[in-house]
Formats: sequence, structure tokens, C-alpha cells
Amino acid sequence: MIPEKPLYEGKAKSVYLSENPDELIVVFRNDMTAFNGVKHDQFTDKGILNATASEFFMKMLEAEGIPTHYIRMAAPDTMIVRRLDMIPLEVIVRNIAAGSMTKKYPVAEGTVLERPVVSIDYKDDERGDPMINDDLIEVLHILPADELKQVKEMALKVNTVLSRFFDECGIRLVDFKLEFGKAAGKIYLGDEISMDSMRLWDKQTGESFDKDVYRFDKGDVITAYRNVLRRILPDGGKKD
Ligand code: CDP
Repeated sequence: MIPEKPLYEGKAKSVYLSENPDELIVVFRNDMTAFNGVKHDQFTDKGILNATASEFFMKMLEAEGIPTHYIRMAAPDTMIVRRLDMIPLEVIVRNIAAGSMTKKYPVAEGTVLERPVVSIDYKDDERGDPMINDDLIEVLHILPADELKQVKEMALKVNTVLSRFFDECGIRLVDFKLEFGKAAGKIYLGDEISMDSMRLWDKQTGESFDKDVYRFDKGDVITAYRNVLRRILPDGGKKD
């Protein structure tokens, strides 16, 4: 049973308390937002598509030894997760220059980086999610240095696993964003891994299969998201 009132309502997911105090219920909604909520729409099936991708990747990462908050699915758009104290950082891993990186720094979109790069934003919508560095994270007591090191190592391991997998599916993993949290002193990967939080380009054509389709009106975003599931799921995403 999902309670009436969410504990927390994000831009595309709602989080509810569960009867089990160690678990939360996450509902992936059909809302789509971009540019910090300036653009907002709803798309049928979008919640299910992102929940399905997240379930798939969380299970894959668990199998590779990365602890995640995933416990089980309660419905196609509803995930039961371990309750975490979230760390207010957006951990971004980039393999190819795109998005804000090409606006802020002198690098052309599509440039393959010499090595994967981790950059971290402080998660605070009102401040526009400013970029933060290791010293600030430590001095502002957001996370101790040893735990930050662990978070970065986990993010790079996620990148290794996902990049290899996407490559086999004919997709380039350009960049993605992760969020982490803690329970009983242990760090877990939280939030979601979906087409909303990654940039995915077709290896052959360079076509986007991610939220950029919506951000920049490049076509039908649901068709793009379905294309990803068709390529990654063993059954081609037929359950949608
Ligand atoms: O997407 P944008 O250009 O605003 O920011 P970015 O720093 O280039 O984003 C890097 C990656 O993180 C992209 O795959 C974004 O979709 C993802 N991201 C996200 O999921 N949520 C955010 N709040 C910021 C970035």
C-alpha cells in the first residue's frame, strides 16, 4: 500500500514511507523536466521506462559488487529501496565532452576525453547545483575525505561496467550522474540510473537516446527511451 502523502517529491520521482522503516517506496512518475524545471511535460509510460532501466542497471551493478539501494519492484513504475541518508552531491562521470562541460570549458562537443573524468556538483536547486571540489566537501562537512574517495571509486567502477555494456549494445555512454547515500555506515548507490540521468549516443549515427531529445526538441523522447530498452533488455523491453 502506498501512503497518500509522499515523504519527498522530486522532479520525476515521488518517495513514500513504507511499513518497513528500513525501506522506502519510489514511484517513477511520467513528469519530465529540464533546465531546472523551466521546461515541464508529461509523457505516457515515461515512468515505467525509466524504472525498468533503473532496475536493470541496479541489478547489473549489484552483480558486479557495487552496493545499491535497490531491493525489489512493487509495480512496473514502483521500486522498493533501502532507506538511505542521502549525500547532497551529484557525482558526474564523463567519457565524452557534452552538455555543460562544453559551455564552461574550451572543449568541443563529442571530444573523447583522455580518461573518464569525475566532477561533482553540490545538490541544491536554489543555488543552481554549483560545482564543488574535494576541499569544500571536506571543510563544509558534506562528506569526510575517505568516504569521498570511496564514492569516486564507486562512480568510476559504475562507469567501467556501464560503458562496456553499452558498447556491446551499440551505444556510447557519453556521461551520467549518480547519487549516493549511507545506511549503517555503509555507502550505497541511490537515486536512479535511467535515460533521464545519462547521455547515450548511437555508436553508428550519433543519434541521442536520452533526455537531450526532450531538452533540445530532437524528436519523440518516448521512442528514444524505448529504443534504449530494446537494445539493452534481453527480451527487447517487451514488457512495456
Ligand atoms: O545536462 P546538463 O548539460 O545540464 O549538465 P551536465 O553537467 O552536462 O550533465 C552531465 C550528465 O549528468 C548528463 O547525462 C545529465 O543528464 C546528467 N545530469 C542529471 O541527471 N541531473 C542533473 N541535475 C545534472 C546532470
